[in-house]
Amino acid sequence: MKNYTKLGHAELKVLGKTVKLPLYGGTEDEKGIDISQLREQTACITLDPGYANTGSCTSGITFIDGEKGILRYRGYAIEDLAKNASFLEVAYLLIYGELPNPTQLSAFVNKITRRSMIPEGMKRFFHGYPESAHPMSILSAMICSLSAYYPDCIHNHPETMDLNICRIIAKIPSIAAFSYKQSIGQPIIEPMNKLNYTENFLRMMFAVPTEEYDVDPVAARALEMILILHADHEQNCSTSTVRIAGSSQANLYASISAGICALWGYLHGGANQAVIDMLRQIRNDGGDVKKFIRQVKDKKSGVRLMGFGHRVYKNYDPRASILKKACDDVLAKVGTDGRPLLDIAKKLENAALHDDYFVERKLYPNVDFYSGIILRGIGIPSDMFTVIFAIGRLPGWIAQWLEMRESPTFRIARPRQIYTGNNLRKYVPLKKRETLSKKVASILKIKGEPKAKEKVEWSRQ
Ligand code: ACO
Repeated sequence: MKNYTKLGHAELKVLGKTVKLPLYGGTEDEKGIDISQLREQTACITLDPGYANTGSCTSGITFIDGEKGILRYRGYAIEDLAKNASFLEVAYLLIYGELPNPTQLSAFVNKITRRSMIPEGMKRFFHGYPESAHPMSILSAMICSLSAYYPDCIHNHPETMDLNICRIIAKIPSIAAFSYKQSIGQPIIEPMNKLNYTENFLRMMFAVPTEEYDVDPVAARALEMILILHADHEQNCSTSTVRIAGSSQANLYASISAGICALWGYLHGGANQAVIDMLRQIRNDGGDVKKFIRQVKDKKSGVRLMGFGHRVYKNYDPRASILKKACDDVLAKVGTDGRPLLDIAKKLENAALHDDYFVERKLYPNVDFYSGIILRGIGIPSDMFTVIFAIGRLPGWIAQWLEMRESPTFRIARPRQIYTGNNLRKYVPLKKRETLSKKVASILKIKGEPKAKEKVEWSRQ
């Protein structure tokens, strides 16, 4: 990895003092001011809600130019990789830094394929979940549980690191498919080593023990492309979560489990499921996209155009362009009943891209806008969309976690804050606290103060 170069200094005048802050540049001309000594020099910290202007690390893994709509993994264009590579090849690239040669790739694939079974004892857990359980809740718990079965991971020993990396990549599709089978009350289908990564996953999802199952090559390739497109995206919410959890020396499984939880939210990976819900709602409401756009623009409605907007892209997300093109191809061959939703999505996109609200705010389709249509086309239920995202993102999380651990500036991640609460107060004994403070009273009013009877019922739960 090329390191960053020192470009000079920035000067900051604060509380009557001028300090010089080092200015660094990356390999693609981004610039950053190093504020690591700021508090020591000025007693001030920086405030940046949502970290929109905060670089938490330097990284040699993924490059994004949000203005130009560029995405590269280890210097390779996403368009090139999506067209030509396999998912495990991309995983190798992200984790080890270079594309593998045929021998390296076959050794890597072999190591993963032979670890796709999950420990027998773990299978009992699946039966403990209700059928209504969201598969993301099962996935995050099961991935963390792997650390109980492979305790060699707990101290992050370098000798077993590679093995644990292969284990987690190998087992995530099995866990994901088993959680789906549990939710529909079907027996689990064990992995089949003669199939490749995506074929194996589709078979575990859709085969039943009583019948032969032939994997559709169109579905397998479409899934492969989706996994590649999701494989890394630099310091997004879930990746930063993985890095932050890992910075405490938490093990790989625990750190990835934390990332899965962060991904689940509908402002992040959960948006792919929310997009399909939105498109269905528009279809059921008569298909009037202009009416929906009006609703989105009315801030009081609280409705967002899901799959649109991005913290980094202020242009078309290159992954969305690839997926939009792929939608037509995939739906022509499989899942043709997905066409009405694709038509609504395209109309919605067109209406938004010609509307001042979206133009002024530079809101374009992101990766989640079209991915759900393809996933639905290949038969994946919408509850599983974010799970597929997690399978795809796993190599990126691993690569970022390793890079963080190997960084010469590695420290526990521990942001600061500006405290805005009460100044020192004296403890009031319980008996003397007669009146409810106005603040607490208003919180209880908003949340609905429990009545005495309800309190009893809650305590029984
Ligand atoms: N629909 C309507 N308005 C939007 C949308 C949207 N999808 N996205 C942003 N805006 C508006 C905001 O209301 C805000 O308007 P204002 O300036 O009048 O207040 C402005 O655009 C800026 O939006 P922020 O929320 O400040 O942007 P931020 O960078 O914090 O959020 C995010 C990015 C969360 C992705 C946002 O665009 C969003 O909610 N999109 C929909 C959910 C989604 O698709 N998430 C997936 C993102 S990709 C991924 O994580 C894999």
